[in-house]
Amino acid sequence: MKVEMEDIDDSTICDSVSSLVEGCRLPVHMTGTSDWPLAEIISIKDVQGAKCYYVHYVDFNKRLDEWVTEESLDTRKVHFPRRDGGSNTGVSTPKKAHIGGGGPIGSVSRPSSPVAGSELVNGSAVLAAALQKRINRKRKGPSLESEDSQDGPAQLPPGPRQSGSMVSHHDDIVTRMKNIDLIELGKHRIKPWYFAPYPQMVNLSCIYICEFCLKYRKSRKCLERHLVKCNLRHPPGNEIYRKENVSFFEIDGRKNKVYAQNLCLLAKLFLDHKTLYYDTDPFLFYVMTIFDSRGFHIVGYFSKEKESTEDYNVACILTMPPYQRKGYGKLLIEFSYELSKFEGKTGSPEKPLSDLGLLSYRSYWAQTILEILISMKPVGDNEKPQITINEICELTSIKKEDVISTLQNLNLINYYKGQYIITLNQEIMQSHKKAMETRLIRIDPKCLHWTPKDWGKRAKW
Ligand code: ACO
Ligand code: ZN
Repeated sequence: MKVEMEDIDDSTICDSVSSLVEGCRLPVHMTGTSDWPLAEIISIKDVQGAKCYYVHYVDFNKRLDEWVTEESLDTRKVHFPRRDGGSNTGVSTPKKAHIGGGGPIGSVSRPSSPVAGSELVNGSAVLAAALQKRINRKRKGPSLESEDSQDGPAQLPPGPRQSGSMVSHHDDIVTRMKNIDLIELGKHRIKPWYFAPYPQMVNLSCIYICEFCLKYRKSRKCLERHLVKCNLRHPPGNEIYRKENVSFFEIDGRKNKVYAQNLCLLAKLFLDHKTLYYDTDPFLFYVMTIFDSRGFHIVGYFSKEKESTEDYNVACILTMPPYQRKGYGKLLIEFSYELSKFEGKTGSPEKPLSDLGLLSYRSYWAQTILEILISMKPVGDNEKPQITINEICELTSIKKEDVISTLQNLNLINYYKGQYIITLNQEIMQSHKKAMETRLIRIDPKCLHWTPKDWGKRAKW
């Protein structure tokens, strides 16, 4: 039987790391864990004579991608990339929204690699095929996987455009890799999760960012010089909310363009699946800060279109990593719905949501809806309390489809005697009560001083 080389399983023992090329898949030791998940080599570089490998763990979010050394590679079972240039993992296709409707959290959709019947897989044939493929790949000349792009600084795409609507999300070899090792923001040193096109910040181990105006500098010295001149101690725009040490500032993307662009750049380091907007005019930015004697420190933000035809009340949302998992994400979400309540509208976050975005929204929706259901009083003696989906929407400003999906996810909807009813059992009420006890920081609507603008009426934003 004639067998095409592409058709056989490329899995083989690789006796030397020197035959590893970009596109190979093999088990790799994930830093900080004792796990060896399957990973794909995205890039290889030489650092003082030693090879370093940039790997993507195939079933994990891209934020876990990292540079590893030889010792972290298990070369006993390597899948070489396919000769036809197609990646055996499909990583060349943009992995944007890994989380859609009801997909498993953290899962990544990718074409599976062709695996032939085991009788065809003969060690030496496979090795020969793998070698042939390597040769072919080298002959191919510059391409996404060419050796030209293996070492040296990643070339940045064009810097932010001052006009035009947006720059599309390139998911090529450059933007697929993190390009910045570290940022310094106020007292925090933070490891970025994803690529961000900071102009002129090439080949630096750290970017130094002014925590108040968000301007970035190449060295601490440069930042210190900036800090002498920079007298901002809070974000620009209007402080529209303050309770205790938490404040929200509303920033108009047209009036404070540079700040808004720098905020988008900073956010891009932690947002993978969103298009980066450089034209910030159509957006408002709500920056949440916490106050101390040194000023108002940025904790997180969300952006919002001035006019959304799709009822989006949040475009992008981010909690800065040092503040994550402390309830600030839900506080930002709660604030976004409070604005929608003031507008008298329902709203929903822009899709796709990230894995962490979906977790946070689902949790917020569940808690908000349960809060209403549990507090309902019966209408008369022996009567069950009644509420319609539309009433839940009005009370919460959560869009109807999100209310329905939440009730379904919580498994609360039952069909009984010809109609849909919501049944709350003791278990769900107890776990809700427990969850609410940990939700200590809340938005107090009395502290919001804001009137919505009707942007549609204005000739220009
Ligand atoms: N692993 C597991 N669960 C998590 C994690 C995590 N790393 N991070 C947050 N959660 C869960 C929390 O447990 C909590 O749920 P629970 O209360 O039911 O336990 C819920 O998510 C929210 O937690 P918060 O502490 O309120 O949220 P946080 O401040 O961490 O912010 C956010 C959440 C904004 C999504 C943050 O993870 C982030 O900035 N991520 C990077 C950017 C991003 O993905 N943004 C959303 C994109 S979608 C969009 O922009 C419309
Ligand atoms: Zn500054």
